[in-house]
Amino acid sequence: MDVAIRLAVIPGDGIGPEVVREVLPLLEWARGRGRELTWEIHPWGATHFLATGKILPEDAFIELRDQTDGILFGAVGDPRVPDGRHAEGLLLRLRRDLELTVNERPCRPILDAHLPLKGVRAAEVAIEVFRENTEGPYCLKGTTEPHRATDLAEHTEPAVRRLLEAAFARAAERGCSLTLAHKANVLKHGHGLWLRMFQELRAAFHQVPARGLHADALLCALVQDPRPFGVIAADNYLGDLISDLLAAFQGGMGVAPSLSWAPHRPFRCAALAEPVHGSAPDLAGCGTANPTGMYLSAALLFRHLGWIAEAESVASAVATALRQGAATADLGGTLSTREMGAAIRAHLPA
Ligand code: NAD
Ligand code: IPM
Ligand code: MN
Repeated sequence: MDVAIRLAVIPGDGIGPEVVREVLPLLEWARGRGRELTWEIHPWGATHFLATGKILPEDAFIELRDQTDGILFGAVGDPRVPDGRHAEGLLLRLRRDLELTVNERPCRPILDAHLPLKGVRAAEVAIEVFRENTEGPYCLKGTTEPHRATDLAEHTEPAVRRLLEAAFARAAERGCSLTLAHKANVLKHGHGLWLRMFQELRAAFHQVPARGLHADALLCALVQDPRPFGVIAADNYLGDLISDLLAAFQGGMGVAPSLSWAPHRPFRCAALAEPVHGSAPDLAGCGTANPTGMYLSAALLFRHLGWIAEAESVASAVATALRQGAATADLGGTLSTREMGAAIRAHLPA
């Protein structure tokens, strides 16, 4: 018998609610196929914070943590909250306090035309960034003093080992290479720890071709030829940068998906699906944002829940829609967010 799944939906800010609205029918669709699924939509975000002063109350956090199986998240970030404190208290808190160590950000371009690189075909690129999702400079320990400012980047062995183990395991499963992005030539302490853990795990996963690359050189190599890369492991900060570069290989920010997950499953809620893009204040309210990244993120969540057939159906509905020319303005088309959502859903099996 199917296990009853409870999801939390947090549309958030800007275009978040616009792209989330388009994937809610996917939840209905999964239910129509016999999946036992319920979900609750939560108001957390800038508007709620400005109206009530609340970001994510403790009882709401505990309910998300202990009584849900996953979160669908739109985006966070609003010019009316310039210090971004609600983003810290909402998205960064969920990533950290749910111990969602792995932020998996796949780059599997669908159309050759989306790749801005000469001589590279979409089918030849299959990269997954495994970004550590809770530490580095995102520990948010810093100071602003007169004429001096600091941001501490904290890296701990348990989180780094978890991230690297998950990255090695994925590379082993795919039979592909693993590249560690680092700057241990400068960040001797923090990235020194990453290199040590990497060497340790390399011995355990001797079948995986693995190497470390300085992150600056890695970016150059990725643009020159992304085809040799399989899994790329990186700390939180480098992973953030690398994943946006890879979004450009998929057609742009509107297409790139991600799933944050906890390989060690410390809590019932061990996954949060969110597109790589942000709240895009420049597009908010226009009805033109691309929901594709949100769809592909939902597919990653379905896979995490063990709903493999549903995950594959969503990914292939997206691919078919794009191949048939469905496109929002960012992809050179004229479809609205709603029309794009409908164009994708039209290819879902009954
Ligand atoms: P952004 O990703 O919001 O936007 C960057 C560019 O990509 C903009 O030109 C935008 O119009 C475009 N874009 C983004 N999503 C798109 C979509 N679905 N369809 C079409 N075009 C899209 O990044 P930013 O401008 O650097 O940040 C805006 C706000 O979002 C900030 O507050 C930032 O902190 C926040 N942010 C949040 C997340 C998140 O919630 N996970 C991620 C990134 C940025
Ligand atoms: C992302 C975003 C976030 C990050 C911001 C909104 C804090 O850029 O999800 O990639 O830096 O992780
Ligand atoms: Mn980012």
